[in-house]
Amino acid sequence: MRLVLLGAPGAGKGTQAKKLIEKYRIPQISTGDILRKAVTDRTPLGKEAKSYMDKGELVPDSVVIGLVKERLAKDDCKEGFILDGFPRNTSQAQTLDGVLAMMNTPLTVALSVDVDKDDLMKRLTGRRTCRGCQQMYNVYFSTPKKDGICDKCGGELFQRDDDKEATIKNRLDVYEKSTAPLIDHYKKKGILKSVMGVGSIDEIFNKVCAVLDKK
Ligand code: AP5
Ligand code: MG
Repeated sequence: MRLVLLGAPGAGKGTQAKKLIEKYRIPQISTGDILRKAVTDRTPLGKEAKSYMDKGELVPDSVVIGLVKERLAKDDCKEGFILDGFPRNTSQAQTLDGVLAMMNTPLTVALSVDVDKDDLMKRLTGRRTCRGCQQMYNVYFSTPKKDGICDKCGGELFQRDDDKEATIKNRLDVYEKSTAPLIDHYKKKGILKSVMGVGSIDEIFNKVCAVLDKK
């Protein structure tokens, strides 16, 4: 299955992707995670990306598209993949369509996870992520057993630099302007599905699987 997860910041793309990896045994390709690792490792790519990410702006296509092409060419993507956070605008979507057409492996489905703006703000300001295994928690909705420590691997939990209220507002605006039009892009291609991303993480996962299992 070749899947694109669409949805606003905080919709739960990463949370659902982590569960989908286990069920479908295909890798998650999160451009946000790749870029954050480059920032932490202080690579030239990370240094370039950081200024955009801190403001909640999109990192230039020239940078991101190269990363994704390289990742898709790896062996573990042969049976499929979950794209999380890519594409983010029409130009990225068109490039992806072209790359996959050349490989004769078009997308199976673009799944949009829909959540109201007020819920998104709470999810993002409350999010904590494990430095070790990237598991997500939330101070309002899903706290770890031990404060600040990951249940799964014992790693330290941190708050993302871009999960500050002003930056979140800009990320949501950028989503509306640049990314939301992709809903139409995939609708026209006949591969769009959507689920309401409200309810418990497991309830949403069941809805997501019900859609994907029909594909
Ligand atoms: P990226 O990392 O992709 O961030 P995003 O799109 O803003 O999305 P998030 O990761 O914030 O949300 P999510 O939907 O994954 O939600 P999550 O599962 O974590 O991008 C970051 C930046 O990188 C961008 O701003 C940009 O600068 C750059 N970038 C990345 N890709 C790019 C691209 N293609 N082009 C250009 N630039 C790019 O959940 C959020 C919280 O909610 C968690 O705490 C979770 O525990 C909680 N939660 C999840 N589900 C539920 C539920 N059902 N009920 C209650 N809480 C829930
Ligand atoms: Mg994410």
